[in-house]
Amino acid sequence: TERTFIAIKPDGVQRGLIGPILTRFEQRGFKLVALKLTWANEGLLRQHYEDLQEKPFFPSLLSYMLSGPVLATVWEGKDVVKQGRVILGATNPLASAPGTIRGDFAIDMGRNVIHGSDSVETANREIGLWFKNEELVDYKSALNAWIYE
Ligand code: GTP
Ligand code: MG
Repeated sequence: TERTFIAIKPDGVQRGLIGPILTRFEQRGFKLVALKLTWANEGLLRQHYEDLQEKPFFPSLLSYMLSGPVLATVWEGKDVVKQGRVILGATNPLASAPGTIRGDFAIDMGRNVIHGSDSVETANREIGLWFKNEELVDYKSALNAWIYE
């Protein structure tokens, strides 16, 4: 089944939003397969954001992501990459609907609380960057039959 990489950014960690954010993914029915609190280094972030290296906001994005620990997570479930992006809201929190994480918890693009992979290919690449294989925990969710038809 499909997996996505979701990271609570340093502002989300500092603001005490780990619990409320994890709750949204759990309550939707997605299965947590990996989780760690980690202070990323510049090399990892340059790889993670390699498509954005030339953007004018890249230096501020880098210092934002280096400003504190990040909660790195992997979630599994049907259509989880796309549904994860829906749960996050738009990149610009001012364009995010209420009920989304960014629409409920953020204002500025450079403090938008959370990252989510934008495609299945990106998700697999990002999971490989942030986690070792043995950190992805393989188990059967007892709730499966109550969530999936
Ligand atoms: P992520 O889930 O974090 O990858 O966001 P995204 O996929 O919605 O946006 P994108 O990958 O294009 O940009 C990555 C991150 O860079 C965003 O989440 C923002 O934090 C930041 N960012 C993107 N565009 C801008 C911008 O125009 N200005 C500023 N200040 N930050 C931006
Ligand atoms: Mg992105």
